[in-house]
Amino acid sequence: MGPFKFRLRDGVPPLSVEDWRRAACRKLPNLALGYIEGGADDLVTLNDNMAAFRAWRLRQRVLTGLSTPDLTTTIAGTQVSMPLALAPVGATGVGHYSGDVAAARAAASCGTRIVLSTASSYNLEEVGEATEENHFFQLYPIGGRERLGRLLDRARAAGFTALFVTVDVMTLGNREEERRWNFVLPWTVTPPRALHMLRHWRWAYNALKHKRLASSHYLEMAKEVEQEKRAASGGIAQGIKDAVASRETLASLMMGELDWDDIAYIRDRWKGPLYIKGILDPDDAAIAVDRIGAEGVVVSNHGGRQLDRALATIDALPPIVSRVGDRAEVYLDGGVRRGTDVITALCLGARGVFIGRPFLYGLIADGESGVRSVLEIFREEIKRNLVLMGCPSVADLGPEWLVRPGSLPAQP
Ligand code: FNR
Repeated sequence: MGPFKFRLRDGVPPLSVEDWRRAACRKLPNLALGYIEGGADDLVTLNDNMAAFRAWRLRQRVLTGLSTPDLTTTIAGTQVSMPLALAPVGATGVGHYSGDVAAARAAASCGTRIVLSTASSYNLEEVGEATEENHFFQLYPIGGRERLGRLLDRARAAGFTALFVTVDVMTLGNREEERRWNFVLPWTVTPPRALHMLRHWRWAYNALKHKRLASSHYLEMAKEVEQEKRAASGGIAQGIKDAVASRETLASLMMGELDWDDIAYIRDRWKGPLYIKGILDPDDAAIAVDRIGAEGVVVSNHGGRQLDRALATIDALPPIVSRVGDRAEVYLDGGVRRGTDVITALCLGARGVFIGRPFLYGLIADGESGVRSVLEIFREEIKRNLVLMGCPSVADLGPEWLVRPGSLPAQP
């Protein structure tokens, strides 16, 4: 056999989250891309989330004889195959019509879980029925206590075992990419935009056909709240109207006056493990754990979509771990793009991490199998780098495995 092998195509699958991101960007029109890639104001926090991980360096020990590190752990009381799960993401159907159902199936087949968003495209029952495993539910405390209570009952009945209450959306962050493309208001069609859509005709066709652009629980609530009976008029127009309606409803149902008493009510109402998502301050972490009795917190800035110039999550993590880490589970999301990011977060005291955009990239580019591929890339990266570090398991990770370049001893 000669030194060449001929093929018609390169045939190299995406190798990294960044490869999946590029594949996803090619598939989506700007309107949808702005929703997924965008962040608040100048994207300072969004970019910091990723950059701050890179300020850390990992310790490397050699000749340890290690080849198969142990990645297993538990997240929110559930045994998982790696310290990584899917973050709650609203309106996943904007990325790919198969949305939350595909993502939940992919997570389960990789031995992990999804946190289903209140703003999901598929509702609790649809996702519950579509997968064998029990997943987690994320609650936006919106729409009043009585409505919330009913949502929690539905989550429990559909087999969701843990609750993540998101507390950092007192009002929507200033996401200019969404506003620029009129994601919120009825979509404006101009000749250049129509042309742009035509270039992404496959996405447009599926979006209109499957009508999963909207957030299904919001739609249900909207219908309830407004007691509005919408006649099933023309399937295609309905899909777009739904998407717009759900975004408006989200804004109108938001409980800006929300306080810790509301969270205490939810704590009372939900019998399973409860986590507060969107914590960046150790004082808030202490209230969540000591006053509310939450099992833990998720250190999160909503992927840089809320308060721009909020701390990068990996920078916010250490003081929170030292405040509540001895008696509560601390998780992190935001900017996790490599296995080494996961390792760094665990070294700094996170029990596990969640990924938002990375799984969306896989979903957008290749549905369920894209999400599976992203998760397997993370698994391989965590495994390979633990071997290269000489660390036998994720349970062994701690601050002793990290070095800050500035704190390295000077060379003699
Ligand atoms: C989100 N996020 C989010 N969080 C939440 O609690 N409920 C939600 O409905 C949503 N919706 C949502 C939509 C989109 C398009 C994105 C990108 C994010 C935030 C999410 O759970 C998580 O905090 C971030 O995505 C983590 O940052 P990375 O992994 O995207 O960098």
